[in-house]
Amino acid sequence: MLFETIIEISYLIGTVLFVWGLRQLGSPDTARKGNMLATIGMSLGIVAVLIDPTITGDNNYLWIAGGIALGGIIGWLAAKKIQMTAMPQMVSVFNGLGGASAVVLSMVELMTVDLDMGGRTISLFALLIGSIAFTGSMLAYLKLDGKIWDSQVTWPKHNIINQVLLVVCIAFFVYLVVQTPSTGLIIAFLLLSLFYGWSFVAPIGGADMPVVISLLNSFTGLSAAAAGLIYGNNLMIVGGILVGASGTILTVLMCEAMNRSLFNVLIGGFSASGGGGKDESGQVAKSTNAIDSAILLNYSGSVMFVPGYGLAVAQAQKALKELDDVLESNGVDVKYAIHPVAGRMPGHMNVLLAEADVPYPKLLDLDDANAALPGTDVVVIVGANDVVNPAAEDDPSSSIYGMPVLKVWEAKHVIVMKRSMSPGYAGIQNQLFFHEKTKMFFGDAKDSIQTLLSEVKNL
Ligand code: TAP
Repeated sequence: MLFETIIEISYLIGTVLFVWGLRQLGSPDTARKGNMLATIGMSLGIVAVLIDPTITGDNNYLWIAGGIALGGIIGWLAAKKIQMTAMPQMVSVFNGLGGASAVVLSMVELMTVDLDMGGRTISLFALLIGSIAFTGSMLAYLKLDGKIWDSQVTWPKHNIINQVLLVVCIAFFVYLVVQTPSTGLIIAFLLLSLFYGWSFVAPIGGADMPVVISLLNSFTGLSAAAAGLIYGNNLMIVGGILVGASGTILTVLMCEAMNRSLFNVLIGGFSASGGGGKDESGQVAKSTNAIDSAILLNYSGSVMFVPGYGLAVAQAQKALKELDDVLESNGVDVKYAIHPVAGRMPGHMNVLLAEADVPYPKLLDLDDANAALPGTDVVVIVGANDVVNPAAEDDPSSSIYGMPVLKVWEAKHVIVMKRSMSPGYAGIQNQLFFHEKTKMFFGDAKDSIQTLLSEVKNL
């Protein structure tokens, strides 16, 4: 009895730590602590399961310890080695493995236990959703990592095929719930669900992958919650629901930040060639150099940095912070404008800048930055492109038309740091580069900032 109470209290504390940890993840200042709290909650849950006599029975602890050690080492090494720019890929793989775990649990349940209709419904649901999350996430990883191209996995009328597949999956699911299914039918359902997950993600454009990963993340949460129901484990149910809900909220926020509907994302509605970018032939982009930029920045009253994906690629965040420090010590007011989808994952820029110890109050969100831009002397765009593209405001034929962007052209001067004139992720031209206020500063962002920094120091 005492043992049972201790186990229930452990689950309760674990649940509170999950919720509290998630809350703390909302700000870069407290995110590390939030991660730690959630880890403690998860560890408590694992220990409670291991000592629960009603679950463990004659379990072989050596196998369990082996699994934990192997998974822990692989996870630790992967997290240590991963570059920030490849974070979406890692999230995708880990998410897929979460779905696969739910599949394994439900398969064991369906194959070894004589389930009633309720038990079958939950197990088959976990199997279906977990399978979709698994193969979908693996394909998302392969696409994001450039190992597979969209054209290699899409077929003609792919969206119609997907709708038919979905109907077949649901009909098969209902059939298996009402019948007592044979092993062969369960395996057939597993294969169909795995195939549907792959096919579901196939037509979705590479640039929309972060949205899909977030959606698949919420699927994994739902499958984990269903697996929690199978075992009557409250901590697993709460954890799964938290993942499911936060994944859904994130998906909606990303769609809003790109002014796209989820349906449009899911049918692969994004097309780089679908308009956008007026023909810039005949237009000349003006370029600048480190000395001229240093003078402009050093003798201005206010500077706004706009970081983008290129900042992450170049790993220029620490050099940028150094430049910020030198300018501030010379009396320049420095701020950072953070677009919600700058980079390749939610919070990408916040994490990079926090890593370089940029104080959080210096970061302005989209609305605050747009309000401050008309009064800003110089905007320095560091490896950002789509999030500052005026086509979103003034070119209805553009595929990003309607997406909220940073109106950098409202500042007095604009310097764009990038290596070439190539487009950003959306694959469309940017008229900002030819704007009368804009000067291009070509080169790798870190090299450019470092030369600029030494010129500012020489003034
Ligand atoms: P992008 O539009 O992708 O532009 C990044 C720019 O960085 C490129 O034009 C590239 O130009 C430059 N660059 C790359 N490496 C560089 C380096 N070493 N040094 C200097 N510049 C470098 O990035 P963004 O403005 O951050 O926009 C993000 C895009 O991702 C948007 O289209 C957004 O919709 C999409 N997206 C983001 C998310 C999230 S959650 N963040 C989710 C879904 C989709 P060069 O090659 O000429 O250097």
